[in-house]
Amino acid sequence: MMLAALAGCFAAHFSEAAQAPKRLPNGGIWPDVDGVHINAHGGGLLKEGGRWYWFGEHKIAGGAGNKAWVGVSCYSSDDLRTWKREGVAFAVSKDEASPVAEGCVLERPKVVKAATGKFVMYAHLEYKGRGYGAAATLVAVSDAVTGPYSLVSAGRMDAATWPREIAAGDRTDATLRDYTRIPQPWGGFAKLWGSHFGEGQMSRDQTLFRDDDGATYHIFASEDNSTLHIAKLTDDCLAHSGEWTRLAHGDWTEAPAVLKRDGWYYLIGSGCTGWRPNDARYYRARSIWGPWERMGNPARGVNPANGLGPEKTWGAQSTFIFETDDGTAYALFDIWKPSNAIDGRYVCLPIDVSDDHTISITWRDEF
Ligand code: GAL
Repeated sequence: MMLAALAGCFAAHFSEAAQAPKRLPNGGIWPDVDGVHINAHGGGLLKEGGRWYWFGEHKIAGGAGNKAWVGVSCYSSDDLRTWKREGVAFAVSKDEASPVAEGCVLERPKVVKAATGKFVMYAHLEYKGRGYGAAATLVAVSDAVTGPYSLVSAGRMDAATWPREIAAGDRTDATLRDYTRIPQPWGGFAKLWGSHFGEGQMSRDQTLFRDDDGATYHIFASEDNSTLHIAKLTDDCLAHSGEWTRLAHGDWTEAPAVLKRDGWYYLIGSGCTGWRPNDARYYRARSIWGPWERMGNPARGVNPANGLGPEKTWGAQSTFIFETDDGTAYALFDIWKPSNAIDGRYVCLPIDVSDDHTISITWRDEF
Protein backbone atom coordinates (compact mmCIF):
# COMPACT_ATOMS: atom_id res chain seq x y z
CA MET A 1 0.00 0.00 0.00
CA MET A 2 2.67 2.45 1.17
CA LEU A 3 4.86 1.59 -1.78
CA ALA A 4 2.01 2.09 -4.23
CA ALA A 5 1.25 5.50 -2.69
CA LEU A 6 4.94 6.44 -2.89
CA ALA A 7 5.12 5.33 -6.49
CA GLY A 8 2.02 7.40 -7.23
CA CYS A 9 3.66 10.39 -5.60
CA PHE A 10 6.81 9.97 -7.71
CA ALA A 11 4.74 9.57 -10.85
CA ALA A 12 2.85 12.78 -10.07
CA HIS A 13 6.13 14.57 -9.49
CA PHE A 14 7.68 13.18 -12.61
CA SER A 15 4.77 14.16 -14.83
CA GLU A 16 4.76 17.66 -13.31
CA ALA A 17 8.42 18.05 -14.22
CA ALA A 18 7.73 16.69 -17.68
CA GLN A 19 5.00 19.30 -18.04
CA ALA A 20 7.10 22.29 -16.96
CA PRO A 21 5.97 25.08 -19.30
CA LYS A 22 8.03 25.33 -22.42
CA ARG A 23 9.91 28.58 -22.81
CA LEU A 24 8.72 30.75 -25.69
CA PRO A 25 11.24 31.81 -28.37
CA ASN A 26 11.53 35.61 -28.47
CA GLY A 27 10.72 36.70 -32.02
CA GLY A 28 9.59 33.16 -32.93
CA ILE A 29 6.20 31.46 -33.12
CA TRP A 30 4.36 31.40 -29.78
CA PRO A 31 1.85 28.52 -30.05
CA ASP A 32 -1.26 28.52 -27.88
CA VAL A 33 -2.48 25.21 -26.39
CA ASP A 34 -4.03 24.37 -29.78
CA GLY A 35 -0.70 24.92 -31.52
CA VAL A 36 -1.81 28.17 -33.19
CA HIS A 37 0.45 31.28 -33.02
CA ILE A 38 -0.96 33.70 -30.44
CA ASN A 39 -2.99 36.43 -32.10
CA ALA A 40 -2.92 39.29 -29.56
CA HIS A 41 -0.75 42.10 -30.93
CA GLY A 42 -0.05 45.45 -29.25
CA GLY A 43 -1.31 43.68 -26.17
CA GLY A 44 -1.49 44.01 -22.43
CA LEU A 45 -1.82 41.59 -19.50
CA LEU A 46 -4.05 41.55 -16.44
CA LYS A 47 -3.87 39.13 -13.51
CA GLU A 48 -7.29 38.19 -12.17
CA GLY A 49 -8.24 35.41 -9.78
CA GLY A 50 -4.71 33.98 -9.91
CA ARG A 51 -4.77 33.67 -13.71
CA TRP A 52 -3.15 35.83 -16.37
CA TYR A 53 -5.22 37.30 -19.19
CA TRP A 54 -3.60 38.66 -22.36
CA PHE A 55 -5.60 41.06 -24.53
CA GLY A 56 -4.38 42.15 -27.96
CA GLU A 57 -5.26 43.04 -31.53
CA HIS A 58 -6.63 40.07 -33.47
CA LYS A 59 -4.92 40.35 -36.86
CA ILE A 60 -5.76 38.62 -40.12
CA ALA A 61 -3.35 37.64 -42.92
CA GLY A 62 -1.86 40.10 -45.40
CA GLY A 63 -1.70 43.88 -45.31
CA ALA A 64 -5.45 43.98 -44.63
CA GLY A 65 -4.59 42.61 -41.19
CA ASN A 66 -3.43 46.05 -40.09
CA LYS A 67 -7.10 46.97 -39.81
CA ALA A 68 -9.57 45.40 -37.34
CA TRP A 69 -11.81 42.76 -38.94
CA VAL A 70 -12.38 40.70 -35.78
CA GLY A 71 -11.61 42.74 -32.67
CA VAL A 72 -9.64 42.17 -29.48
CA SER A 73 -8.45 38.66 -28.61
CA CYS A 74 -8.20 37.26 -25.10
CA TYR A 75 -5.92 34.42 -23.95
CA SER A 76 -5.45 33.02 -20.44
CA SER A 77 -2.57 31.30 -18.69
CA ASP A 78 -1.44 30.10 -15.26
CA ASP A 79 2.24 30.23 -16.05
CA LEU A 80 2.67 32.98 -18.73
CA ARG A 81 3.86 30.41 -21.26
CA THR A 82 0.92 28.06 -21.77
CA TRP A 83 -1.81 30.20 -23.33
CA LYS A 84 -5.41 29.15 -23.98
CA ARG A 85 -7.45 31.17 -26.45
CA GLU A 86 -10.57 32.53 -24.72
CA GLY A 87 -11.96 34.01 -27.92
CA VAL A 88 -12.87 37.51 -29.01
CA ALA A 89 -13.25 39.76 -25.96
CA PHE A 90 -14.38 42.83 -27.92
CA ALA A 91 -15.87 42.35 -31.38
CA VAL A 92 -15.93 44.93 -34.17
CA SER A 93 -19.38 45.58 -35.62
CA LYS A 94 -21.05 44.51 -38.88
CA ASP A 95 -22.96 47.80 -38.72
CA GLU A 96 -21.20 50.22 -41.10
CA ALA A 97 -22.51 53.16 -39.06
CA SER A 98 -20.87 51.91 -35.87
CA PRO A 99 -17.72 53.73 -34.68
CA VAL A 100 -16.18 50.25 -34.48
CA ALA A 101 -17.30 49.02 -37.90
CA GLU A 102 -15.30 46.09 -39.35
CA GLY A 103 -12.26 47.60 -41.07
CA CYS A 104 -11.70 50.30 -38.47
CA VAL A 105 -8.31 50.60 -36.77
CA LEU A 106 -8.36 49.26 -33.21
CA GLU A 107 -4.93 49.16 -31.63
CA ARG A 108 -3.08 48.49 -28.38
CA PRO A 109 -6.04 47.38 -26.18
CA LYS A 110 -5.45 47.28 -22.41
CA VAL A 111 -7.77 46.13 -19.62
CA VAL A 112 -8.05 46.99 -15.91
CA LYS A 113 -10.50 45.97 -13.18
CA ALA A 114 -12.32 49.04 -11.84
CA ALA A 115 -13.41 49.67 -8.24
CA THR A 116 -16.90 48.70 -9.43
CA GLY A 117 -15.66 45.13 -10.05
CA LYS A 118 -16.19 45.55 -13.79
CA PHE A 119 -13.45 45.09 -16.36
CA VAL A 120 -12.71 48.12 -18.51
CA MET A 121 -10.89 48.13 -21.83
CA TYR A 122 -9.19 51.15 -23.45
CA ALA A 123 -7.91 51.08 -27.03
CA HIS A 124 -6.80 53.41 -29.81
CA LEU A 125 -9.59 53.76 -32.36
CA GLU A 126 -9.63 55.17 -35.89
CA TYR A 127 -12.94 55.18 -37.75
CA LYS A 128 -13.22 53.03 -40.86
CA GLY A 129 -11.85 54.61 -44.03
CA ARG A 130 -10.66 57.77 -42.29
CA GLY A 131 -6.93 57.14 -41.88
CA TYR A 132 -5.36 58.02 -38.54
CA GLY A 133 -6.93 61.45 -38.12
CA ALA A 134 -9.58 60.69 -35.51
CA ALA A 135 -7.05 59.60 -32.85
CA ALA A 136 -9.99 58.51 -30.68
CA THR A 137 -10.18 56.58 -27.42
CA LEU A 138 -12.38 53.49 -27.25
CA VAL A 139 -13.76 52.51 -23.83
CA ALA A 140 -15.56 49.18 -23.38
CA VAL A 141 -16.80 47.34 -20.29
CA SER A 142 -17.57 43.77 -19.26
CA ASP A 143 -18.73 41.90 -16.14
CA ALA A 144 -16.42 38.98 -16.95
CA VAL A 145 -12.69 39.37 -17.57
CA THR A 146 -12.83 37.44 -20.84
CA GLY A 147 -15.76 39.53 -22.14
CA PRO A 148 -17.85 40.15 -24.11
CA TYR A 149 -16.91 43.83 -23.70
CA SER A 150 -19.51 46.33 -24.85
CA LEU A 151 -18.80 49.81 -26.13
CA VAL A 152 -19.09 52.63 -23.58
CA SER A 153 -17.70 55.50 -25.64
CA ALA A 154 -15.60 56.28 -28.71
CA GLY A 155 -14.11 59.71 -29.25
CA ARG A 156 -11.79 62.38 -27.94
CA MET A 157 -11.41 63.01 -24.22
CA ASP A 158 -10.37 65.98 -22.09
CA ALA A 159 -12.34 68.52 -24.14
CA ALA A 160 -12.13 71.98 -22.54
CA THR A 161 -10.00 70.75 -19.64
CA TRP A 162 -6.57 72.18 -18.88
CA PRO A 163 -3.33 70.32 -18.21
CA ARG A 164 -2.70 70.55 -14.47
CA GLU A 165 0.56 72.51 -14.94
CA ILE A 166 -1.27 75.51 -16.43
CA ALA A 167 -2.04 77.72 -13.42
CA ALA A 168 -5.60 78.96 -12.97
CA GLY A 169 -4.60 82.52 -13.85
CA ASP A 170 -3.05 81.38 -17.16
CA ARG A 171 -6.08 79.51 -18.43
CA THR A 172 -6.72 81.98 -21.24
CA ASP A 173 -7.10 82.04 -25.03
CA ALA A 174 -3.60 83.52 -25.23
CA THR A 175 -2.18 80.39 -23.56
CA LEU A 176 -4.08 78.17 -25.98
CA ARG A 177 -2.51 80.13 -28.85
CA ASP A 178 0.97 79.43 -27.37
CA TYR A 179 0.25 75.72 -27.82
CA THR A 180 -1.01 75.65 -31.41
CA ARG A 181 1.59 73.80 -33.45
CA ILE A 182 5.25 72.74 -33.77
CA PRO A 183 7.30 71.69 -36.82
CA GLN A 184 7.52 67.95 -37.48
CA PRO A 185 10.99 66.48 -38.10
CA TRP A 186 9.65 65.07 -41.41
CA GLY A 187 8.10 68.36 -42.57
CA GLY A 188 4.82 70.12 -41.96
CA PHE A 189 3.44 70.85 -38.52
CA ALA A 190 2.00 68.89 -35.62
CA LYS A 191 -1.00 70.33 -33.85
CA LEU A 192 -0.52 70.81 -30.12
CA TRP A 193 -3.10 70.47 -27.36
CA GLY A 194 -4.20 74.11 -27.64
CA SER A 195 -5.50 73.29 -31.14
CA HIS A 196 -7.62 70.44 -29.77
CA PHE A 197 -8.87 72.18 -26.64
CA GLY A 198 -12.49 72.38 -27.80
CA GLU A 199 -12.92 68.95 -29.37
CA GLY A 200 -10.71 66.98 -26.96
CA GLN A 201 -7.20 65.59 -27.12
CA MET A 202 -5.84 63.11 -29.65
CA SER A 203 -4.97 59.62 -28.40
CA ARG A 204 -3.07 57.03 -30.44
CA ASP A 205 -0.55 54.55 -28.96
CA GLN A 206 -1.74 53.97 -25.43
CA THR A 207 -1.56 52.00 -22.21
CA LEU A 208 -3.25 51.81 -18.81
CA PHE A 209 -1.36 51.90 -15.53
CA ARG A 210 -2.73 50.96 -12.11
CA ASP A 211 -0.79 52.71 -9.33
CA ASP A 212 -0.33 51.10 -5.92
CA ASP A 213 -2.79 53.58 -4.35
CA GLY A 214 -5.46 52.16 -6.67
CA ALA A 215 -5.55 55.12 -9.07
CA THR A 216 -5.61 54.26 -12.78
CA TYR A 217 -3.97 56.31 -15.52
CA HIS A 218 -4.40 56.37 -19.30
CA ILE A 219 -1.09 57.20 -20.97
CA PHE A 220 -1.13 57.96 -24.69
CA ALA A 221 0.60 59.58 -27.64
CA SER A 222 -1.17 62.87 -28.26
CA GLU A 223 -0.64 66.17 -30.09
CA ASP A 224 -0.01 64.40 -33.44
CA ASN A 225 2.30 61.94 -31.62
CA SER A 226 4.67 64.75 -30.59
CA THR A 227 3.92 64.50 -26.86
CA LEU A 228 2.60 61.97 -24.36
CA HIS A 229 -0.35 62.66 -22.09
CA ILE A 230 -1.14 61.07 -18.75
CA ALA A 231 -4.79 61.29 -17.67
CA LYS A 232 -6.17 60.00 -14.38
CA LEU A 233 -9.34 57.93 -14.77
CA THR A 234 -12.52 58.18 -12.74
CA ASP A 235 -12.96 55.44 -10.06
CA ASP A 236 -15.21 53.41 -12.39
CA CYS A 237 -12.46 53.79 -15.03
CA LEU A 238 -15.09 54.63 -17.66
CA ALA A 239 -13.78 58.15 -18.36
CA HIS A 240 -10.94 60.58 -17.79
CA SER A 241 -11.26 62.46 -14.50
CA GLY A 242 -10.19 65.78 -16.06
CA GLU A 243 -6.79 65.74 -14.33
CA TRP A 244 -4.04 65.34 -16.91
CA THR A 245 -0.52 66.36 -17.80
CA ARG A 246 1.89 66.33 -20.74
CA LEU A 247 5.31 64.72 -20.82
CA ALA A 248 8.18 64.30 -23.24
CA HIS A 249 7.08 67.36 -25.24
CA GLY A 250 8.30 67.21 -28.81
CA ASP A 251 10.04 63.83 -28.27
CA TRP A 252 7.75 61.91 -30.68
CA THR A 253 7.42 58.98 -28.26
CA GLU A 254 5.01 56.14 -29.01
CA ALA A 255 4.26 52.70 -27.54
CA PRO A 256 4.22 53.77 -23.86
CA ALA A 257 4.50 51.16 -21.08
CA VAL A 258 4.88 51.95 -17.38
CA LEU A 259 6.57 50.33 -14.36
CA LYS A 260 6.65 51.55 -10.76
CA ARG A 261 9.42 50.32 -8.49
CA ASP A 262 10.48 51.64 -5.06
CA GLY A 263 8.56 54.87 -5.54
CA TRP A 264 10.04 55.57 -8.99
CA TYR A 265 8.00 55.52 -12.18
CA TYR A 266 9.64 54.32 -15.40
CA LEU A 267 8.02 54.86 -18.78
CA ILE A 268 9.40 52.96 -21.76
CA GLY A 269 8.50 54.01 -25.30
CA SER A 270 9.64 54.00 -28.89
CA GLY A 271 10.32 56.65 -31.51
CA CYS A 272 7.72 57.49 -34.12
CA THR A 273 8.40 55.57 -37.36
CA GLY A 274 5.15 53.62 -37.92
CA TRP A 275 5.61 49.86 -38.20
CA ARG A 276 9.38 50.23 -38.76
CA PRO A 277 11.47 49.64 -35.64
CA ASN A 278 13.50 52.43 -34.06
CA ASP A 279 15.42 53.02 -30.85
CA ALA A 280 13.61 52.67 -27.53
CA ARG A 281 13.85 55.34 -24.86
CA TYR A 282 12.74 55.63 -21.27
CA TYR A 283 11.82 58.34 -18.79
CA ARG A 284 11.72 58.28 -15.01
CA ALA A 285 9.92 60.33 -12.38
CA ARG A 286 9.20 60.38 -8.63
CA SER A 287 5.58 61.37 -9.26
CA ILE A 288 3.26 60.24 -12.03
CA TRP A 289 2.71 63.96 -12.68
CA GLY A 290 6.39 64.49 -13.30
CA PRO A 291 8.81 66.02 -13.83
CA TRP A 292 9.83 63.14 -16.13
CA GLU A 293 13.51 62.86 -16.95
CA ARG A 294 14.60 61.45 -20.32
CA MET A 295 17.06 58.62 -19.67
CA GLY A 296 18.14 57.10 -22.98
CA ASN A 297 17.75 53.65 -24.46
CA PRO A 298 17.25 50.75 -22.02
CA ALA A 299 17.80 48.06 -24.70
CA ARG A 300 20.98 45.94 -24.62
CA GLY A 301 22.23 43.08 -26.75
CA VAL A 302 21.42 41.81 -30.22
CA ASN A 303 18.62 39.66 -31.61
CA PRO A 304 20.60 37.04 -33.56
CA ALA A 305 17.65 36.27 -35.83
CA ASN A 306 17.74 39.71 -37.48
CA GLY A 307 21.06 41.13 -36.28
CA LEU A 308 19.29 44.15 -34.74
CA GLY A 309 20.42 45.66 -31.45
CA PRO A 310 19.39 48.65 -29.33
CA GLU A 311 19.40 51.05 -32.33
CA LYS A 312 16.28 49.21 -33.57
CA THR A 313 15.18 47.65 -30.23
CA TRP A 314 15.91 44.18 -31.70
CA GLY A 315 13.29 44.88 -34.41
CA ALA A 316 10.60 45.26 -31.74
CA GLN A 317 8.39 47.95 -30.19
CA SER A 318 7.22 48.09 -26.58
CA THR A 319 3.60 47.41 -25.65
CA PHE A 320 3.25 46.59 -21.95
CA ILE A 321 4.99 45.99 -18.62
CA PHE A 322 3.77 43.50 -16.02
CA GLU A 323 5.16 42.14 -12.76
CA THR A 324 5.12 38.56 -11.52
CA ASP A 325 4.65 37.52 -7.89
CA ASP A 326 8.40 37.02 -7.44
CA GLY A 327 8.88 40.75 -8.10
CA THR A 328 10.27 40.43 -11.63
CA ALA A 329 9.08 43.07 -14.09
CA TYR A 330 8.78 42.02 -17.73
CA ALA A 331 8.44 44.17 -20.82
CA LEU A 332 6.36 42.79 -23.69
CA PHE A 333 7.19 43.92 -27.24
CA ASP A 334 5.81 43.36 -30.74
CA ILE A 335 7.81 42.60 -33.84
CA TRP A 336 5.38 43.93 -36.47
CA LYS A 337 4.88 42.26 -39.84
CA PRO A 338 2.81 44.89 -41.66
CA SER A 339 2.76 42.93 -44.96
CA ASN A 340 1.31 39.88 -43.17
CA ALA A 341 0.00 41.27 -39.90
CA ILE A 342 -1.08 37.92 -38.40
CA ASP A 343 2.57 36.82 -38.44
CA GLY A 344 3.61 39.57 -35.98
CA ARG A 345 5.89 38.19 -33.27
CA TYR A 346 6.37 38.77 -29.55
CA VAL A 347 9.35 39.44 -27.35
CA CYS A 348 9.16 39.33 -23.56
CA LEU A 349 12.20 40.27 -21.49
CA PRO A 350 12.86 40.94 -17.80
CA ILE A 351 13.61 44.54 -16.83
CA ASP A 352 16.71 45.06 -14.71
CA VAL A 353 16.16 47.86 -12.20
CA SER A 354 19.38 49.17 -10.65
CA ASP A 355 19.87 50.68 -7.21
CA ASP A 356 20.60 54.03 -8.89
CA HIS A 357 17.09 54.02 -10.40
CA THR A 358 18.14 53.25 -13.93
CA ILE A 359 16.77 50.36 -15.97
CA SER A 360 18.03 48.11 -18.72
CA ILE A 361 16.54 45.30 -20.78
CA THR A 362 18.89 42.72 -22.25
CA TRP A 363 18.00 40.48 -25.19
CA ARG A 364 17.46 36.81 -24.42
CA ASP A 365 16.54 34.16 -26.96
CA GLU A 366 13.70 32.80 -24.84
CA PHE A 367 11.00 33.98 -22.50
C1 GAL B 1 3.07 52.57 -34.96
C2 GAL B 1 2.23 52.32 -33.74
C3 GAL B 1 1.29 51.18 -34.04
C4 GAL B 1 0.48 51.56 -35.27
C5 GAL B 1 1.40 51.90 -36.43
C6 GAL B 1 0.62 52.35 -37.64
O1 GAL B 1 3.96 53.62 -34.75
O2 GAL B 1 3.04 52.03 -32.65
O3 GAL B 1 0.48 50.93 -32.92
O4 GAL B 1 -0.33 52.66 -34.97
O5 GAL B 1 2.29 52.92 -36.05
O6 GAL B 1 1.49 52.83 -38.64
